[in-house]
Amino acid sequence: RAEVEALLRGRIRDVPDHPEPGIVFKDITPLLADPEAFTALTDALAAFSIEHGATKVVGLEARGFILAAPVAVRAGLGFVPVRKAGKLPGATLAQAYELEYGSAEMEIHAEDLSGSDRVLVIDDVLATGGTAEAALRLIRRSGAQVAGLAVLMELGFLPGRARVLPALDGAPYQALLTV
Ligand code: PRP
Ligand code: MG
Repeated sequence: RAEVEALLRGRIRDVPDHPEPGIVFKDITPLLADPEAFTALTDALAAFSIEHGATKVVGLEARGFILAAPVAVRAGLGFVPVRKAGKLPGATLAQAYELEYGSAEMEIHAEDLSGSDRVLVIDDVLATGGTAEAALRLIRRSGAQVAGLAVLMELGFLPGRARVLPALDGAPYQALLTV
């Protein structure tokens, strides 16, 4: 566990002043490019999904897709995308969320989840928590249960965790790293 954490931490690159001055961007592309690290990440998240009885893995566009899809395959579960509004062709449920400037909307295909599903939501980063909170609301509105929320990293200097806890309503939360 500590070894995996060190491996993952060592493959996240700090990019100063991106996308704007004063912001240190956490770049996960070195981790994705390293098969040992990407496999360790996938295995850790797949273990979490199995431990908590998930039946579906939901990934959040775009970076959450990269992490969540291999987790679903590894755990033997279905994958369901939450997409930015306007992309999904079928009947959707939509949920608005706040961005740093303005707001956005995310959608899910309602028919891909049923009342008997237990859904693990996966994303790369928990920052303000707005994205994850909206996704959890969407899952609940679909009638499915929330099995948990897992992220690669939590930005510990932001109150994202406090924000998502009410939406989790007792379901487990895991951040593999706090940065
Ligand atoms: C980033 C990141 C998380 C979200 C975290 O996504 O991938 O999804 O922000 O921020 P929050 O906790 O403050 O909501 P972004 O919307 O930048 O786009 P991307 O995943 O499509 O690159
Ligand atoms: Mg994202």
